[in-house]
Amino acid sequence: MCGIVGYTGHRPAIPVAFEGLEHLEYRGYDSAGIGYGFQNKLEVVRSAGKLKNLSEKISHSTTALTVTCAIGHTRWATHGVPEERNAHPHISNDKSLILVHNGIIENYLEIKENLVRKGYTFHSDTDTEVLVNLIAEERKNQPDLLHALRIALQKAHGAYAICLLERENPEILYAARMAAPLIFGIGIGENFVASDIPAFLSYTRNVVFLEDGEILVADANSYSVYRSDDLACVQKQEQCIQWSMQAAQKGGFRHFMLKEIFEQPQVIKDGLTGRIREWQGVVLPELDNLTIPRRLHIVACGTSYHAGLWSSHLFESWARIPVQIEIASEFRYKERFLLDPAEDLVLVISQSGETADTLAALRIAREQGVTTVGICNVVGSSIAREADVVLYTQAGPEISVASTKAMTSQMTMLACLAIYYGERKQVLEEGREEKILRALADLPKRLEEALPVMHTEAKRLSRKYAQAKSFFYLGRGHCFALALEGALKLKELSYIHAEGYAAGEMKHGPIALIDPNFPSFVIALNDRLYPKVKSNIVEIQARQGHIIVLTDFNVDIKVDDIWQIPSGMGALGAFFVLPCLQFFSYEVADYLGKDVDQPRNLAKSVTVE
Ligand code: M6R
Repeated sequence: MCGIVGYTGHRPAIPVAFEGLEHLEYRGYDSAGIGYGFQNKLEVVRSAGKLKNLSEKISHSTTALTVTCAIGHTRWATHGVPEERNAHPHISNDKSLILVHNGIIENYLEIKENLVRKGYTFHSDTDTEVLVNLIAEERKNQPDLLHALRIALQKAHGAYAICLLERENPEILYAARMAAPLIFGIGIGENFVASDIPAFLSYTRNVVFLEDGEILVADANSYSVYRSDDLACVQKQEQCIQWSMQAAQKGGFRHFMLKEIFEQPQVIKDGLTGRIREWQGVVLPELDNLTIPRRLHIVACGTSYHAGLWSSHLFESWARIPVQIEIASEFRYKERFLLDPAEDLVLVISQSGETADTLAALRIAREQGVTTVGICNVVGSSIAREADVVLYTQAGPEISVASTKAMTSQMTMLACLAIYYGERKQVLEEGREEKILRALADLPKRLEEALPVMHTEAKRLSRKYAQAKSFFYLGRGHCFALALEGALKLKELSYIHAEGYAAGEMKHGPIALIDPNFPSFVIALNDRLYPKVKSNIVEIQARQGHIIVLTDFNVDIKVDDIWQIPSGMGALGAFFVLPCLQFFSYEVADYLGKDVDQPRNLAKSVTVE
């Protein structure tokens, strides 16, 4: 989603803002721009496409080194095509304000009509240009921009994080948020605003997380936060970020995605640290005061949804808790009476903690009085702050748009949670808990040894199958969730059409697609479902379909390619399957010359509905 940067201080602001935008590139964008005040005028430089286009334009500007306050933006198109005229910052008709915005103003057409009636003209298709003119209109009748902002934001409905500059005082940053992330970075003699911490982490680790309905006003040396409904001052708590810029850099790897795949053993290790009571249980003090739910609703999107789907097998088998798993964009529009505050628990999973649909689902559950638990990676994110309890996955910053280590970290936490409930309910058979805990604790070392071999095999297979136009990913039981994830990874990275299916569903329709040009990637682990998966393989072969089998034992079947991996204990085998799926998609995409870390049309954090 869009990235916002604001800087005011003693340094040349345009390079600082540009650098901030580079650190937000991972969020996904299709145009970019920077705005600042210079010689009593507000200027904007914008361009479609990647930041290098913007950089070329900026390099022609002689003001670049003299300006000490600037705002910047990377835009992921929601209203209007990704052209320069739609890129941010947008300037008001009277040239008194420039604005960058992440989110959607839902009633912008209505506001636009009113403004057109008053004589305003518009040069873009965006809701942002409407908002900046609305603020400018309100400013005419208000003593200062803060008051004008308050009135305008009361009239604009929807989600937004905004940052703006006024021609009269171009060294002051104004910012506000409603359901979109915005963080304030506090330096010495300089201050920052950004959609995410990496934008300013090279300059400061001290941050304030802005809440919905707050307005920030900051110059180089001071700041104030106000409630937008009555402009009362809010005392904010400053926090110190623990992770470093190094954690957010490629560290010698070709792509962030590759680095993040290789980080997975460490991610499991970090996720388990302090969580395993040798070998008798799991420590989750965050949950000790909550009752054990009779029914668990897991709600998430994309890869996080797949982690949730995988974990439903663990909750049902280890903790005997029935699970209803739902995609957040569906859950949020369902009939509310299905939730029972006395018996249900809503567990939302989100790497970013900012996904709009997941956040909305969480809020609905809270409105219903149902206890909510959030599994999040980003500390201080909206979901982390709003859930009754947050369990952090500790995966460190995930920069590549394609989620990899985040899923592993979520699976680690979900496994701990299932054991925790199993133990509290005393339904884990004697000795089983210890076996699971030992198997979990062994994972980092075993995976670390296995990853280079997996990578080599993925590279070989990617060359063989990269020309396929379509792929099936098939699995049963907990491997169905992995099949969905494998298909998602392949399509988002390589743009090859891929479908994840429960292997047993093939005969109900999809098998009609099978022919020699439509290969299947089958996950066939050594478990009670293997004989069933084997039948499904044979059915595909009978239709001349080519098959890769990913397996952890010597399968008694002849297929095109057998990819042998180490075996995990039961569903923990997923920790070995997942990296293979990630490597395969990575290698296919890289071989085909795709933009691995920033696939087309995608954003890292989906903060719009
Ligand atoms: O930040 P979240 O975990 O809430 O994000 C959910 C999805 O947008 C995300 O997992 C997406 O599917 C991944 N980019 C896929 O690799």
